[in-house]
Amino acid sequence: MKKINNNKVKTVDEISHFAKARGYTGAFGTEKYMLWYFFNYILIILARIAPYPLVTTFHRWRGAKIGYNVYISRGACIDHSAPQFIEIGNHVTIAYGAVILAHNREGRWGLSNVSKTKIGNNVFIGANAVILPGTTIGDGAIVGACSLVNKSVKPYTIVGGVPAKVIRGVKKRTRSKNGI
Ligand SMILES: CC(C)(COP(=O)(O)OP(=O)(O)OC[C@H]1O[C@@H](n2cnc3c(N)ncnc32)[C@H](O)[C@@H]1OP(=O)(O)O)[C@@H](O)C(=O)NCCC(=O)NCCS
Repeated sequence: MKKINNNKVKTVDEISHFAKARGYTGAFGTEKYMLWYFFNYILIILARIAPYPLVTTFHRWRGAKIGYNVYISRGACIDHSAPQFIEIGNHVTIAYGAVILAHNREGRWGLSNVSKTKIGNNVFIGANAVILPGTTIGDGAIVGACSLVNKSVKPYTIVGGVPAKVIRGVKKRTRSKNGI
């Protein structure tokens, strides 16, 4: 029996689905999305080698909403294909290897769904932590190294583990005008 290779058709369908899910609708929506993706890809590479604070600037240019006094490590990943759905507050640190996600997919050719991921003010995300799509990290929270956050984290709590569980609370910290 002759095998039909329809991978090409699936790829085009998938790109068009990705584009629509990210708000690229209407005439040339898919083309505009592909153009954005090209620049996005370049910025991802630059963010891996640039000196701080350019790393944060490049993620802003990719579409992530990022407040002020935010440190994002060069080795951190701010969702590669849906940064527009990530919101990061002020005075946030995202350590090396942390992964902040805003999209999901079901299988190789499954649908790619996006959902907003929100990180509040004064949050610390430890090294290699993974924040799953659709979660919110409350103000002042600390996410331990190597944790998997699959549920929203309440403000002023320390969470850790896989999946992340509450370790204890954090005392509210007040900041001086210069943010230190
Ligand atoms: C989460 C963290 C802040 C907690 O520090 P701490 O308050 O000193 O906590 P402790 O070491 O006293 O540990 C308290 C409990 O939490 C657990 N715990 C600590 N860190 C954990 C983590 N990352 N994942 C899971 N559990 C963790 C400990 O095992 C301990 O459990 P136990 O009471 O059952 O023994 C710290 O462990 C951490 O992960 N820091 C991130 C470091 C990092 O990423 N640095 C990069 C800087 S840019």
